[in-house]
Amino acid sequence: MTAFAHPPRWLISSVRPRPVWPREVTVPRSAAAVTRSPAAPVIDVQEVHKTYRIGDISVHALRGVSLRVPRGEYVAIMGSSGSGKSTLMNILGCLDGPTAGTYRLDGLDVRDLDEDTLADIRGRFIGCVFQSFNLVPRTRALANVELPMSYAGVSRTVRRERALAALGAVGLGDRVDHIPAELSGGQQQRVAIARALVTDPALILADEPTGNLDSASTEEVLGTLERLSDEGRTIVLITHEDEVARHARRVIRLRDGAILSDQRTQTTRGLA
Ligand SMILES: Nc1ncnc2c1ncn2[C@@H]1O[C@H](COP(=O)(O)OP(=O)(O)OP(=O)(O)O)[C@@H](O)[C@H]1O
Ligand SMILES: [Mg+2]
Repeated sequence: MTAFAHPPRWLISSVRPRPVWPREVTVPRSAAAVTRSPAAPVIDVQEVHKTYRIGDISVHALRGVSLRVPRGEYVAIMGSSGSGKSTLMNILGCLDGPTAGTYRLDGLDVRDLDEDTLADIRGRFIGCVFQSFNLVPRTRALANVELPMSYAGVSRTVRRERALAALGAVGLGDRVDHIPAELSGGQQQRVAIARALVTDPALILADEPTGNLDSASTEEVLGTLERLSDEGRTIVLITHEDEVARHARRVIRLRDGAILSDQRTQTTRGLA
């Protein structure tokens, strides 16, 4: 049983009532709006450093990472344990800020935004998938997927319609009434992907989404991500496994908090 007893902090914060935008901040209000500004990369990270301090000890987890990810790209981030992958992912997902450097998300500098605004951005533009699925137990798939839309302004009918469509898109149209314990690992992860998709995010971030899955379930999840990539979604996926990274079109390797290599790949689907 891998689901958590409570929804994770990021999910709770992403379903809070929507704040009014600070007047000086202009953000497109839907993913559709995002696709109308093709010039800006979805991710533009420049010279990002992250230092964690615990008492007198500092851990320099990221050391000057610069990275641009254009719209529609499917990127895998690899590197040994402790190389800074999750630290980078937390910054890309606006769950944490860099100590130095800039991060522009679809052209918007997120550095000075307050917590409510960041929560709203997470809710609107970013879908996160984690190794541990983070589904709410004893709650059927449909309700799990509806959760990110529980904020004011989305009617019950629309929530239901979108959740059903998202579950259909990951091939689980016939499992909407199952609770997580009644689903296989791969199916649970696909529910988590549906939940990440239901707000129509421009960017999907997946931190070891197949880390807990057997090979058949891994194939299911990778197939789902591939279809999303073919639809033009931007995907950043962290993995330890070469087999998984081979599905992406670009592989970035981190070592000691810095980019070691950044290569286009010949995917398992043939040349992109
Ligand atoms: N909240 C934190 N406080 C202090 N140090 C941290 C924190 N999170 C990560 N670190 C440290 O920062 C470095 C990078 O950690 P990170 O979690 O980004 O690695 P990772 O590449 O995701 O590793 P893994 O493959 O094991 O998940 C590590 O040395 C880790 O100990
Ligand atoms: Mg990690």
